Amino acid sequence: MDSKRLAGEAAVNYVEDGMLLGLGTGSTVYWSLQKIGELVQSGLRIRGAPTSAETEKIARQLGIPLIALSEVSELDLTIDGADEVNPDFQLIKGGGGALLREKMAASISRRFIVVVDNSKYVPALGQFPLPVEVVPFGWQITRRQISGFGCEPVLRQVHGSPFVTDNGNYILDCQFAALEAPEELHRQLNLIPGVVENGLFVNMADMVIIGASDGSIETK
Ligand code: 5RP
Repeated sequence: MDSKRLAGEAAVNYVEDGMLLGLGTGSTVYWSLQKIGELVQSGLRIRGAPTSAETEKIARQLGIPLIALSEVSELDLTIDGADEVNPDFQLIKGGGGALLREKMAASISRRFIVVVDNSKYVPALGQFPLPVEVVPFGWQITRRQISGFGCEPVLRQVHGSPFVTDNGNYILDCQFAALEAPEELHRQLNLIPGVVENGLFVNMADMVIIGASDGSIETK
């Protein structure tokens, strides 16, 4: 059984008629989108605000009515994946490079449900390098400043060129030896002038749905 599919589909049980939904990004949310598409075909009246160009494309193909995130002041529910989740519901996100819009969506959501496979539910964050979105101008300066927090930031690349986010920015992937005090790190990183946003989501998730390959689902 595909554990991402289990978690992604299970979250759609919380979707209700008339809701305005934040649509996350990634291979777990892909399964949520498929299910939401089915609900729309069966007559459910919902609208979705996509958090990435990739999600927008999939949602369009599925016939999910869309509204731009920029036009929304509040969302009823956002469903999104994560790269790591700890027992305090702190998250690392941004493996797919959509962390800024994902965090904007989560910040205006009445409810934020995170969907992951069980390999991502960890006792402490930090095995996964923390993605930090930075402005391209002077990214080397920003990298030096971030490295002062005890990591070696690596510029994310695709086919030898910098990966560019939907917002026209770069991503620095930051592997920390130990990612202690995520809340404080989150605050400090965002004080660096060239940092747009970082992938730590602190005090945002309301529920975590964890799928396992044995077919079980755990809801926290
Ligand atoms: C994209 C994200 C994704 O939600 C995260 O990377 C998880 O992706 P997947 O479900 O494909 O494992 O934060 O920016």
